[in-house]
Parts: sequence; C-alpha cells; structure tokens
Amino acid sequence: MNSSSDKIMMSYYDERAAEYDLIYEGRGPAQRAPEIYQRETRKISRIVSKFGKGHVIDIACGTGFWVSLYAKRCRHITMVDQSSNMLDECRRKLQAMHLIRKCTLLQGDVLKMTLPDKSFSSSVIGFFVSHLDSEQEAVLFNKLRRILRPEGELLIIDSTWGDMKMQYRKKEGMQERLLTDGRRFSVYKRYFTEQEVNCLFEKYAFTMTFIWFGNVFFVARGVLNV
Ligand SMILES: C[S@@+](CC[C@H](N)C(=O)[O-])C[C@H]1O[C@@H](n2cnc3c(N)ncnc32)[C@H](O)[C@@H]1O
Repeated sequence: MNSSSDKIMMSYYDERAAEYDLIYEGRGPAQRAPEIYQRETRKISRIVSKFGKGHVIDIACGTGFWVSLYAKRCRHITMVDQSSNMLDECRRKLQAMHLIRKCTLLQGDVLKMTLPDKSFSSSVIGFFVSHLDSEQEAVLFNKLRRILRPEGELLIIDSTWGDMKMQYRKKEGMQERLLTDGRRFSVYKRYFTEQEVNCLFEKYAFTMTFIWFGNVFFVARGVLNV
C-alpha cells in the first residue's frame, strides 16, 4: 500500500473512534444483521476471556474493546495504535475500569515502531491483519516473531469471508466505509476464509491451537513455534 492509502486509513479511524464500538452492539456497519454481530461478539468475548498471560501487547488496539476480558489474566498490557482519537477512547475505558495503571499506551505505526525483543508473553490483534497487504503482513508477523517470548501466544480476531459478506462486499481491495454523518472513506480490506487463516499461521510458524469461524467474525489462537 502507498503512503496516501495509509494516511486515509489513519484519518478514517481517527474520525470513526467515537462511534467505533457500535459495530459490537449490532449498530453502525453491523445494521444489516444486528443479531449476528451481537451473537458473534458475545461468542468471541467468551473466548477472549480465556486468553492472555504475562505481558500482553494489543496491536492496533483501537478503543480497547477486548481489554476488559483478558486484563485479569495479565501482569501488564501494552496497547498500540496509530490513532490518537482511538487511544483517547481506550484511555477513557481503562480509567473507568481502573485498569490504567496496568497499561502502557503507545501511539504510532506498529509496523515501523521499535519494540523490545522477546518482551511479550502474548498478543491480541483485532481486525488489523485484514487491513494489511502481503508485504505489511510479513512485516507484522516477523516483528511478532521477534518480540514474543518463546511459547508466546497469539490471538487474532478478524473478519470472515462467506455467504453473507459476498452479498455486499468484495473479498479484497479498496473498499468504501461510511461514517454515521455520511462521510465516506476508501480503505484496503480483505476477508478471510478458514483455510486462509490456517495458511497464515503456518506461513509465519505459529501452531494453531484453536479456531472458531462465524458468519462475520473469526477468532484463532496460536503459539509461536520455537
Ligand atoms: C478495525 S480497528 C480494530 C480495533 C481493535 N483492535 C478491535 O478489535 O476492536 C483497526 C485499528 O488499527 C489501527 N491501525 C491501522 N493501521 C495501523 C498501524 N499501521 N499501526 C497501528 N495501528 C494501526 C487503527 O487506528 C484502528 O484503531
């Protein structure tokens, strides 16, 4: 992807921050099938609540929607996002839940950011891999392999490709996104089949230990091969 697409992605998420969590309530972009989004959010929440150990890094954390679920299992949490508005939403949430002292918030491009080697025991990555082209994907996973400790764990939550999405999305490419005030943005997004998720783990040498595939979301868990 080029730098102008990256800038549009950045401003899209900055502008969407205040309304971002609506999707998990079956509103906003989820309004075509609210019950499905609500049900799958509940299902994933149960899975996330069983994940996490030691020092977690939540990559492209957004508003920190999942943090309350894994926080109790972790010693420390590093939340990284490029968007200052997303991080402001996240900070508010962490303060309200009295979790802020357990967390470090970092603003920047995670693909370019320097992070210490072998310093994280687990990583949560929600709806970020689907915004990366193959070159960026390799940068992310090579970085993950470097910053995770041996036996480090990974949880990926992202968007599925299936009968439902086929009706109104294309599988991969620049796609239009609409905010509630009518503004439109074009961002790169791809949707995953179950086989593609398996290939992703295999390609970057993570052993998959669990996968759940829904109509709109999937969640996959793995461990770094040493
Ligand atoms: C779809 S949201 C996901 C938020 C959260 N992980 C979740 O599961 O709800 C994608 C997030 O990725 C962030 N992002 C996009 N590119 C990034 C980059 N290169 N470095 C860090 N964050 C990035 C955006 O700002 C946005 O908050």
